[in-house]
Amino acid sequence: MLQSKGNLTQWEFLALNSELNIADGHARQALSPGQTKIVDELPLLFAEGERRPVEQIEQEAHEAYFTLLGQHSYPAEHGRVMSCYSSSVAMEILSRALAAEVETVALVHPTFDNIADLLRGNGLRLLPVAEDPLHGEDLPRELLASVGCVFVTTPNNPTGRVLGEDRLRRLAEQCAEHDIILALDTSFRGFDPRAHYDHYAVLDASGCRWAVIEDTGKLWPTLDLKAGLLVGSEHLGLPVEKIYSDILLGVSPLILALIRRFAEDAASGGLAELHEFIAGNRAVVRAALADLPGVDFPDPDSRTSVERVRFSGRTGTEVWEALQEHNVFALPCRQFHWADPAEGDRMLRIALARSREPLTESVRLLAAVLESR
Ligand SMILES: Cc1ncc(COP(=O)(O)O)c(C=O)c1O
Repeated sequence: MLQSKGNLTQWEFLALNSELNIADGHARQALSPGQTKIVDELPLLFAEGERRPVEQIEQEAHEAYFTLLGQHSYPAEHGRVMSCYSSSVAMEILSRALAAEVETVALVHPTFDNIADLLRGNGLRLLPVAEDPLHGEDLPRELLASVGCVFVTTPNNPTGRVLGEDRLRRLAEQCAEHDIILALDTSFRGFDPRAHYDHYAVLDASGCRWAVIEDTGKLWPTLDLKAGLLVGSEHLGLPVEKIYSDILLGVSPLILALIRRFAEDAASGGLAELHEFIAGNRAVVRAALADLPGVDFPDPDSRTSVERVRFSGRTGTEVWEALQEHNVFALPCRQFHWADPAEGDRMLRIALARSREPLTESVRLLAAVLESR
């Protein structure tokens, strides 16, 4: 049994071989008919990757992905979007680059713990910023004067909270006023149209130094063939290119061609279908658990592919233990609260990017566990 202080990915490892894995946030639902056709064409994509210059395929993949999600002002010129093997690799590069210039980062709380771990692992000091103040009024001047970067996950994992356009504008203006970097992790943006306004237009207009990490890996069930995209403002002032080149040369053209094709399929109806599918899965989870005493859903507005369930009487770790006896693996929420794990004690996070049948069976068993007290 894992210690309750194990990180979230260690908990996710335990679930990987179970048919009832509702732990990690990677996409594991069955392929749609349109996506199946693309996978059937994999030998053609491989041949294309051998034949065409990788830069062309990469540009097409970027254009298809950013356009799909409304990010029309992304910097398309050479080198501004750095393709990485995953968003964690992009995060490691950004963290190492930040550590060269910055001592302290204000980071949204809660959020996925590997963001905090990679920043801290590179020697950065972290100050937690709770979601309510972050999404509310201006951030205090004293806070901004004491950090070199503000880091926000939007939509956030696990809460689904989205930084709206006006709020992003004001935050970026404040960062410009204090000459600090605004960094965003938008890995879950594909799921929520409220995150499809043109962030790059807002960031550029503010004049602040900014960095954004995008992620193709949460949306489509591509067996973890994915890319993280690290995008930086023109005068970012961090050694990201050098650190990128310390770590990798580039992402496989096969993966880039696959991303381009999945993005095209999403643009011609696949994305709307995916949104409907996730909303249907969320409804299944809520319907199965809603009537249980002491159980509620802390993120009623979330549209991302994860859903938190809160309960009274037992900790998330205790419910996890009872659940894994039925071979169901969810994710206890302590570690999302990287500065105060006790805040996440009475919650589990459920992954919704799963086929309907195993998800329904998993929440049926979760309901039985929560009822058996
Ligand atoms: C917000 C966020 N960013 C980054 C990551 C890391 O993604 P990956 O495991 O593909 O590197 C995750 C993982 O779930 C995440 O939730």
